[in-house]
Amino acid sequence: MVKDIKGQKVTLRDLTDADLNDYRKWFTKGLEWTKWDAPWEEMSDTFAQDFVQRLFTRLSKGPQEIKTRLEIEVDGTHIGWVSSYNIERKPDFLAVGISIPEDDFWAKGIGREALRLWIGYIFENRGLEHIYCETWSGNERMVRLALRIGFEIIEKDKVLEYNGMQYNKLKFRIGKIPAPQGN
Ligand SMILES: CC(C)(COP(=O)(O)OP(=O)(O)OC[C@H]1O[C@@H](n2cnc3c(N)ncnc32)[C@H](O)[C@@H]1OP(=O)(O)O)[C@@H](O)C(=O)NCCC(=O)NCCS
Repeated sequence: MVKDIKGQKVTLRDLTDADLNDYRKWFTKGLEWTKWDAPWEEMSDTFAQDFVQRLFTRLSKGPQEIKTRLEIEVDGTHIGWVSSYNIERKPDFLAVGISIPEDDFWAKGIGREALRLWIGYIFENRGLEHIYCETWSGNERMVRLALRIGFEIIEKDKVLEYNGMQYNKLKFRIGKIPAPQGN
């Protein structure tokens, strides 16, 4: 069983009962973050309730052997989560996601550390050669974060209209860094 994953500022850990209240808050108040995450997906009470219900079900099953998501904690405060999903349900196309809902915590390098830890964990535990990530060109923080970590853009042609503006859907990929050979 994997213990907490600790970086310098960030700890990635399993979901707890107390976290559910944070999710209820994040999905009902201060929804600014959802405008960056996937703004074309409308946030509704039903979506929020389903999301928290799924987390509750996850919690009742106990910690996962191989993690598909983890909570981000900084100085003992739960501030967001990292996740993973299969693009178009294809097992070889695992993408990572990250959300830090409260903007007080943005632009402090927390996302960079959390996503690096998460990718390291996935490469170690899932036997994949590549990991993917998806966002849109309007989410500059996410674009810069992905590039800074070492993702490369592999798809940028799909156009997305949002609020009367045209953006591009972006797909990124990062490869496993090979272990050093020989002595
Ligand atoms: C996207 C997100 C995870 C980034 O986390 P973070 O902790 O803010 O990221 P970091 O501080 O490590 O890096 C942010 C980068 O964006 C840059 N940045 C900060 N504010 C910016 C702005 N207003 N415009 C453009 N770039 C900005 C930072 O300089 C940094 O780039 P650099 O390392 O090249 O200097 C976080 O902002 C978030 O959760 N946003 C809401 C949800 C979301 O969009 N999730 C991603 C879904 S794909």
